[in-house]
Amino acid sequence: MALISLSHIEKPSSTVQWLRLVFSHLLFQDHTMALLDILIYPDQRLRQRAIAVDEVDAGILNLIDDMIETMYHASGIGLAAVQINVARRIVVIDLSETQNEPRVFINPEIIEQSGSQLHEEGCLSVPGIFAEIGRAEKIKINYLNRNGKPITEEADEMLAVCLQHEIDHLDGKVFVDRLSRLKQERIKKRLLKEAKQSANNA
Ligand code: NI
Repeated sequence: MALISLSHIEKPSSTVQWLRLVFSHLLFQDHTMALLDILIYPDQRLRQRAIAVDEVDAGILNLIDDMIETMYHASGIGLAAVQINVARRIVVIDLSETQNEPRVFINPEIIEQSGSQLHEEGCLSVPGIFAEIGRAEKIKINYLNRNGKPITEEADEMLAVCLQHEIDHLDGKVFVDRLSRLKQERIKKRLLKEAKQSANNA
């Protein structure tokens, strides 16, 4: 985000320049990035089923920007809107080393899948817990990009894992659900205990 401080800008020489400056400033201020709270397992709100986005309007774009900001801040590689308590079918993912290539998937839907792979998964809503989960090896998905354009895309490896994990969130599912009952109970207990401790320390 490149809003240069006014003091670094040469004095505008014309009214047009002034207007442009003021206008861009107002535009920028229209939406300041916000960090959103991430729901933590076993919060029941993680169980809500998200509904499709019918129009990619300014509100949705602002939400997407906030989700990307929140994902980066939490050092995550993916975030679904349900995780920030918004029941809309939106996923953001960034698998780049440099964490500056955010990808946006609106209304993502798996239309084909094949093979299987085991991969260790973690989740911003299940902090500190990692487990091997079986997923389809290759998937084909339909989604809208941030311009509202319908896209069909094939994914494999990490992107396929990540998309399946995030689409689960949109259906109210968490990767922990795929583990044994015993493991689920242990994870639940541990996270509830940690939440209690951090509330006591606050
Ligand atoms: Ni997750």
